[in-house]
Amino acid sequence: MLSRRLALAVATGAVAALALGTAAQAAPARHGGHGATLRTLAERPDLLIGTAVDASALAADAPYRAGVSSEFSSVTAENAMKWEVVEPARGSYDWSQADRLVEFAHRHHQEVRGHTLVWHNQLPAWLTSGVADGSIDAAGLRAVLRKHITDEVRHFKGEIYQWDVVNEVFDEDGTYRDSLWLRELGPSYISDAFRWAHEADPKAKLFLNDYNVEGVNAKSTAYYELAKKLRAQGVPVQGLGIQGHLDIQYGFPGDVGDNLARFDALGMQTAFTEIDVRMTLPADEAKLARQAQDYRRLLDACVAVRGCTSFTVWGFSDKYSWVPDTFSGQGAANITDENFVRKPAYTALADGLRAAARRAGRH
Ligand code: G3I
Repeated sequence: MLSRRLALAVATGAVAALALGTAAQAAPARHGGHGATLRTLAERPDLLIGTAVDASALAADAPYRAGVSSEFSSVTAENAMKWEVVEPARGSYDWSQADRLVEFAHRHHQEVRGHTLVWHNQLPAWLTSGVADGSIDAAGLRAVLRKHITDEVRHFKGEIYQWDVVNEVFDEDGTYRDSLWLRELGPSYISDAFRWAHEADPKAKLFLNDYNVEGVNAKSTAYYELAKKLRAQGVPVQGLGIQGHLDIQYGFPGDVGDNLARFDALGMQTAFTEIDVRMTLPADEAKLARQAQDYRRLLDACVAVRGCTSFTVWGFSDKYSWVPDTFSGQGAANITDENFVRKPAYTALADGLRAAARRAGRH
């Protein structure tokens, strides 16, 4: 795998002339000047700037593909590395979608975030029905989980810089989420998962990952306490992934900087892993301005601390957003619209990266 620095340096010279937006920009992308893209602007603050990638869009939509490669230095499979996709039938793996993304990332000198090894959602039917009918008991489930983590992390060994090892394990009040994993195995499944992932790829940075953990609150404090405890026990937990699914109808989460700083103080990395900012449709100028401000505030919080190493948006176009399918009447959550035209949120991120680059230049 290319080092983060080298990958970014190569990328600077290699990005396609295509830039998102209506006007074709032919000038080569260089720090901050005409033709700059998010990935070139992120070079000086030394930040990996990422997007989730929809496997079908990557295969079928050329402007989408161009946006992924020109704007981002990191990619995350939106669904392609999830358990139901990679092991649809027990013992029979299908890595095809994920391998295509990794290969795309190689070609475009991008890093890959791994998402996600242990979740309560998008599990294969053979697993959930096996647990439900008793044909997979607790010991069997633990063995299945170990095999899944080992096989998947080994398959991508050397290709993934950060793995979301466990996803969404706490409720909002800071108690463990009631999931198949907790019910069958108890909370030790979490430390087991990190140990198994580390054995399979000792160089990958291993992350906890969740939503509603942007600011200091009961849930993020549960992660802080868990991380502290696991690290004291020698469990290889190196980062907290903060998803960043925001909604402009709620206030911007308080204390994001303080939250990041306390994980820094533990010696951990942080990353924004799935940012989007939804709104009630139709979008208007005021809503888009508020959205832009939220994106910018997350970025500013990230670049202000040492440990925040990557900043990933959960898709970059409203064309492929998960939001309208989940929140009826809401959408417009991404940084470009359905035609890949840049929204104020895109400009806010670009401005934030330019400001961060200027500050980095002074030090
Ligand atoms: O795979 C089937 C496909 O065969 C079928 O043709 C299609 C028809 O609708 O459905 C496909 O599955 C969908 C899958 O995305 C792939 O497109 C599922 O129905 C759909 O539920 C699934 O949604 C994903 C969601 O996770 C599932 O929980 C979203 O795309 C994805 O953006 C979302 O991502 C999660 C993160 O992993 C964790 N954090 C929250 C985030 C947003 O929910």
